Amino acid sequence: MEGKNHYLKAAQRAAKWHDEYRNKMRKCKFDTIAVHGLYSMQEALDFNQGSIIEPMYASTSQAYRDSDEMELALGYQIPTWCYSRIANPSMYYLEGLLAMLEEYKTGQEASCLVTSSGMSAIRTAVDEFLHPDPKNPKKPRNFVATSQVYGGTFQQFSVRKGQEDGIEWRKVINSADMKEWESLIDENTRFLYGEMPSNPTLAFFDLKKVADLAHKHGIPFIVDATVATPALMRPLAFGADIVIHSVTKSLHTSGFGIAGAIVSRKNITSKFGNKDMKANFCGYLKLLPARDNGPNLSPMQCILAINDIRTLRMRMDVCSENTMKVSKFLEKHKHISKVNYLGLESHPLHKIAKKYMVLVDSEFETKDKKPVNRYGHLMSFEVKGGAENARKVFDAFEHIWRATDLGRIKSVATIPAISTHSQQGEEGRKAAAIPMNLIRLSVGAENPDDMIRDLEQALAVLDGKKKKSTSPEYSAGGASSATLRR
Ligand SMILES: Cc1ncc(COP(=O)(O)O)c(C=O)c1O
Repeated sequence: MEGKNHYLKAAQRAAKWHDEYRNKMRKCKFDTIAVHGLYSMQEALDFNQGSIIEPMYASTSQAYRDSDEMELALGYQIPTWCYSRIANPSMYYLEGLLAMLEEYKTGQEASCLVTSSGMSAIRTAVDEFLHPDPKNPKKPRNFVATSQVYGGTFQQFSVRKGQEDGIEWRKVINSADMKEWESLIDENTRFLYGEMPSNPTLAFFDLKKVADLAHKHGIPFIVDATVATPALMRPLAFGADIVIHSVTKSLHTSGFGIAGAIVSRKNITSKFGNKDMKANFCGYLKLLPARDNGPNLSPMQCILAINDIRTLRMRMDVCSENTMKVSKFLEKHKHISKVNYLGLESHPLHKIAKKYMVLVDSEFETKDKKPVNRYGHLMSFEVKGGAENARKVFDAFEHIWRATDLGRIKSVATIPAISTHSQQGEEGRKAAAIPMNLIRLSVGAENPDDMIRDLEQALAVLDGKKKKSTSPEYSAGGASSATLRR
């Protein structure tokens, strides 16, 4: 027992040190937190050979000094990363970083669980509220969620939850209508869920009102805030219980891999679930359900994400401004019938978006100390003349990449009806308001004038002006005598 006491006391001292350091970091501004996270010089010197970058142990497991230490570690009585399905040092720093960014200036304390993808984050979060009632397993279960969601989420909710598990998805068609939300809730509703701004149509709603509504019914409110990122909107400030991110997108902008995150505030509202789950939702997920189900993220992906997140605020600022410029250009174009971008004053949801989408800490940069609005780098537009014209324009892009992707440092576009939102079928797309002539564009950090030029020449195809470009027959990657001429 002497040995165990030694480990337990050391763990207490370490917990105190880490709590104090976390509190010190919490007093820093958003950019400082984004750059440093929880990784301290002290830890670098004591445990990581002085490395200025967070550790990346590509190791399945951790070794222990003796059986006492192993027993305490596996019983979660001392800090441990034991096995990389449960924890890993790189995962710890990414989770600490995202929790601090999401809780920034919200008055909340957050915890985070990172997962192998945005989809696994959604599943891991919602499954906790959907277990059958042990006393009455046949009791119906439902959840209320916006219909304007990413296509993968649509499939998870309609096919996996609905068709396979018999759990009803009650769709909110017009998420700005609070009466519609309320009319769908009953005593079997497990949670409210919304994606905002939504992919690809930029649906938006009054976060605080929906959170209040959920709490009135004793259930949690879950928000997928992938498109906004914590640099532009932190839903915990307005009463959301749980925030979902596809870290794959703007957080991890380089496009090096897939990752997801769940961030929760302490003491979430839920009439379903046990006490520990409600007290610290992500902490509970990490130690129990995620340990058993295994949706973990690899250490390499954690480090790659950490590296991109350091520049999050500045990127969201620049990319939002670029998107605004591109949107204004498209809004006036003769071949475009509709532009979905929340930053445009003409957008019906602009006023409500203005309330929530604010560049974090921007009040320190303006003369009048007023914060500035930024609306992110996702937009979409409808091409006049239907699906065929949209495809012609899409096929003519030269610099804008054709890919089912968004949030990249490079501009990327897709036609949702034939890609990200094809599986949900025509009826599902109708519910999600996705027409065949819609092009989704995620504007990157290039000079926006170049992207506008690309759009201009692509749209000119509809005037019959564009010649089809031919591909080079060899890649420029190899050496040839042409190399000498350069
Ligand atoms: C808003 C939103 N949520 C979730 C996801 C799913 O994330 P992932 O592709 O990382 O699984 C996506 C993917 O496009 C998305 O756009």
